[in-house]
Amino acid sequence: MLCLGIESSCDETSAAVVADGHRVLSNVVASQRDLHRRYGGVVPELASRRHLESFLPVLEEALQEAGVEAAGVDLVAVTRGPGLLGSLLVGLVAAKTLAYVYGKPLVGVHHLAGHVYANFLDGAAPPWPAVCLIVSGGHTELVFLPGDGHVLRLGGTRDDAAGEAFDKVARLLDLPYPGGPQIDRLAREGDPTAFAFPRAMLADRSYDFSFSGLKTAVALEVERLRQAGAPLPVADLCASFQQAVIDVLAAKTLDAASRCGAAAVLLAGGVAANSALRRRLAEDAAALGLPLHVPAAEYCTDNAAMIAAAGTYAFRAGQVDDLELEAAARLPLERL
Ligand code: KG4
Ligand code: ZN
Repeated sequence: MLCLGIESSCDETSAAVVADGHRVLSNVVASQRDLHRRYGGVVPELASRRHLESFLPVLEEALQEAGVEAAGVDLVAVTRGPGLLGSLLVGLVAAKTLAYVYGKPLVGVHHLAGHVYANFLDGAAPPWPAVCLIVSGGHTELVFLPGDGHVLRLGGTRDDAAGEAFDKVARLLDLPYPGGPQIDRLAREGDPTAFAFPRAMLADRSYDFSFSGLKTAVALEVERLRQAGAPLPVADLCASFQQAVIDVLAAKTLDAASRCGAAAVLLAGGVAANSALRRRLAEDAAALGLPLHVPAAEYCTDNAAMIAAAGTYAFRAGQVDDLELEAAARLPLERL
């Protein structure tokens, strides 16, 4: 089964062709990072306009690379939310048009389900049931996958996303954007016990997270050190901050895995690139006898191959959407 995937929820325009929900025949991503850089964040109007300009060339390249024509795919899968409404609409209207013109089934995909299914691309398929930690610049969610195509929410952040916390702390330390990779690198030379930063919500039994207090604690410490006139121990601050984030993410993920009887632990989203987080989750999962799955780096950031994978699994589970399908800027995951 060949699925054409389309993703345009934020600042990446992407089209991909994926066979049988896992074999990537093409995955073309046009990033708008340079367009938005000087504004310090994604400007919605500019993003949707750029999606409009990029979409057809991206689609054409994806089909050409895969060696298929639009009429030759079996299914069209598209991100329907959450994300920027104007951006989502570009991909959604394109997907509906292709589905209508070529008479193909249409499947609307939750963007976060896409991130989860990045774990099924180009590698061994993880066993069901599974627990997945989704950590990116915009999301921090813990989900359960029973194996029937559903992605059920166990909990998530109540304020900042984990990646957002990395980026904000990096800014406090005058490190360039995006801050996550910088902190990851500097933390390797630092002492993770140098500063005792808070581990919010670690003790409660919910699967919710909070990172804004941690960011404030780092800000206060930096302020105190700057006033004392000493050079900032940047590596120690990075290592201690990162350790505080990882302690909470790992503890809750592994608790969820054992309470849900998971057969595997999955990691997804841009922060999945963090080397210390990967190491810790792999160790903790191994202690429970569980494998840790992490998507290849190119599938951790926004892309259409992951949307095609999620769409294929949803289609197999019986989901087909009609042309009335609407984009949703806010789209909660189903709760367990
Ligand atoms: O999923 P993603 O590519 O995009 C958005 O959510 O927009 O995630 C980007 C986030 C950024 O916050 C970035 O700082 C973080 O992922 N990130 C990392 C690392 N690499 C990227 N955070 C920690 N350690 C890393 N190695
Ligand atoms: Zn994303």
